[in-house]
Amino acid sequence: MGLKQLAFAAIFSITAAGQAFSQTPIVIKFSHVVAADTPKGQAAERFKQLAEKYTGGKVRVDVYPNSQLYKDKEELEALQLGAVQMLAPSLAKFGPLGVKEFEVFDLPYIFPTKEALYSVTEGPIGKGLLKKLETRDITGLAYWDNGFKDMSANKPLRNPADFKGLKMRIQSSKVLDAEMRALGANPQVLAFSEVYQGLQTGVVDGTENPPSNFYTQKMHEVQKYLTLSNHGYLGYAVIVNKKFWDGLPGDVRTALEKAMKEATDFEKSVAQKDNDASLDAVRKSGKTTFITLTDAEKAEWRQALLPVQKSMESRIGKDLIEAVNKEAAKHLK
Ligand code: LMR
Repeated sequence: MGLKQLAFAAIFSITAAGQAFSQTPIVIKFSHVVAADTPKGQAAERFKQLAEKYTGGKVRVDVYPNSQLYKDKEELEALQLGAVQMLAPSLAKFGPLGVKEFEVFDLPYIFPTKEALYSVTEGPIGKGLLKKLETRDITGLAYWDNGFKDMSANKPLRNPADFKGLKMRIQSSKVLDAEMRALGANPQVLAFSEVYQGLQTGVVDGTENPPSNFYTQKMHEVQKYLTLSNHGYLGYAVIVNKKFWDGLPGDVRTALEKAMKEATDFEKSVAQKDNDASLDAVRKSGKTTFITLTDAEKAEWRQALLPVQKSMESRIGKDLIEAVNKEAAKHLK
């Protein structure tokens, strides 16, 4: 090779290397614990597509569903350590981070409708709660929806008395612990990935979840009865490692915010439909018998569970509970 060609080759390889370098995408690892075909799972995929499109490939999002990478508690630790960049844990799982206020979403009967919920999550209360995460080096980006929970077991759960002595799996929330105790059950915290096996082997007797989680984890195979109780809510906050987020180039962050906004709208549009379809699928499986509560039975449940709102004031804050109830009351039919 002559001098001229050598110089040309060198320039070419530097340019190519430079290009290759500038094209190395920023990777966002997005870990979650539910199946890919749940509302959260689908929205994570939608965010991936939109994020990659709007950043023109500057960002790659790798989604790890079904606790493939981390279980409940581990994923929060991994986020803080920077081993993953994005999560969408349920609002019941922020207590161990020291942000107990999120457990307000777990209070029995606090949201009469989805509209009541949205006015909390999208208004100043919801924004204020996300802001609290910053003290934990976490940035809250959005709330994602799932649905109202039903109760399952291998015996019919019609009255609070039916819960007596049952070991009920809960998420790691003190409000859910109080809820199960108020019904006379023994609450047991289990990671989501361990629920099916726990139910199958009798480590726990029953559980609560929205139908989309119940069906996609095949809980209907190991639970004979499902009470359509709608006694509480389960939803999510999408969160990122703050240092990672703040360190992104401004144009990339703006593109990701746009992707998140659209993925969130999409998530909300599928959450109820997915839960309705899952309930239908459970019914069609013929494996689980549904229990619909009479008005008198509903009143008994409320009587047993409503005091949890009061007993949790010292943990969550009286003002916050009152503010949420006030906002929700605007949506009472
Ligand atoms: C659960 O642990 O039951 C849920 O939080 C799982 C989920 O992420 O929906």
